[in-house]
Amino acid sequence: MTGSNTSVSTDHTAASPDSVTFPQNRGCPYHPPTAYQPLRDARPLARVRLYDGRPVWMVTGLAEARALLADPRLSSDRTHDGFPSPTARFAGITKRRTALLGVDDPVHATQRRMLIPSFTLKRTAALRPRIQETVDSLLDRMVAQGQPADLVNAFALPVPSMVICALLGVPYEDHAFFEGQSRKLLRGPRTADVEAARDALDDYFLRLIDRKRKEPGDGLLDELIGQRLDEGLLDERELVDLAVILLVAGHETTANMISLGTFTLLQHPRALAELRSDAALMPAAVEELLRFLSIADGMLRVALEDIEIGGEVVRAGDGVVFSTSVINRDSASYEEPDRIDWHRPTRHHVAFGFGIHQCLGQNLARAEMEIALRSLFDRLPDLRLAVPAQEIPFKPGDTIQGMVELPVAW
Ligand code: HEM
Repeated sequence: MTGSNTSVSTDHTAASPDSVTFPQNRGCPYHPPTAYQPLRDARPLARVRLYDGRPVWMVTGLAEARALLADPRLSSDRTHDGFPSPTARFAGITKRRTALLGVDDPVHATQRRMLIPSFTLKRTAALRPRIQETVDSLLDRMVAQGQPADLVNAFALPVPSMVICALLGVPYEDHAFFEGQSRKLLRGPRTADVEAARDALDDYFLRLIDRKRKEPGDGLLDELIGQRLDEGLLDERELVDLAVILLVAGHETTANMISLGTFTLLQHPRALAELRSDAALMPAAVEELLRFLSIADGMLRVALEDIEIGGEVVRAGDGVVFSTSVINRDSASYEEPDRIDWHRPTRHHVAFGFGIHQCLGQNLARAEMEIALRSLFDRLPDLRLAVPAQEIPFKPGDTIQGMVELPVAW
């Protein structure tokens, strides 16, 4: 692990970009994989190989990434023959329907329009008191249970999990089930595990929708059932697909940002001290952590037409991958990109993606991160790692980045 305050340990002896495979494991949980260094040098676009040897484009320049992510000639349709699969298990499930993330316009726009009102800044601001209550009660419980504690299970995971349950109208009592299935969906070792997890989540939501039709509650799913499903404007399969992506994306991502964000702050004591001395820095700090950590480190697309970009031609049928950790550290856009700086302009980072698929839950994620990190460090001013940093396991490169567990004391 490179637990330093500043730059990545780099392997400049690495071979040319086209011998690099995507994705790679990080050597340090908060820095891009060192194997990507030749690609960072070869910005803004390079050829890399997937696990099966297939060549694809990897975008590394920020301006080019934003241009391509906003370009309708790139498709998110996972059933397209040229769609890039980062792992064999992902290749096995590409024929499954994926709402929002797996569809292009106009289907995408119709799905997204139904959900936008629930994720506006205003709706998210109204959720803040509830997020604060959730955070406070989880901290109370963690402290009462005593130290050391695993911050992932005691805090980082339940915060977004409880919040997305309340927003959707999913009973939190079922959290062990859906958190386990989400884990398998994102990291199951074999295609069969991933398929089984998706089947289990589909069945769960079919049963939940049925129950809600008899006994409506007040979550987003209840609204969609009353206003769309029962009016014939949405079919049950599509509602299940939407529920699965909202539930999974709504808790796994933010949980990793809270755990990896805490770990990173504890490894950067000066940056943490500055943040604690000025509470007003928190929104900027969350933005810089999003850029610096880039936990959704691999967006995938396929080109539908030839596209000229960055002095190259991406041909129709070519796969295109976006490593957010590399793009968000583009030295043409950020000064000293490998350094944490709460005062830098972070606008334009692509930690939430860009274009039509830009994260629907970003306002919610920002609110959760701000409240969780501020409350955690206010409440436990002596928070520290309970074991040496090198012993703490973090996630492999083919999934959302974050800590597997985070033993802490205070
Ligand atoms: C810090 C936490 C989060 C990060 C880093 C993150 C990151 C991302 C990224 C990079 C994308 C774009 C993927 C692509 O274009 O291929 C995305 C899309 C999405 N995110 Fe998030 N996300 C986070 C939290 C959330 C939350 C809390 C929700 C709540 C529901 C959510 C729901 C979604 C949905 C539904 C999409 C698909 C949007 C579309 O295709 O129109 N995310 N997210």
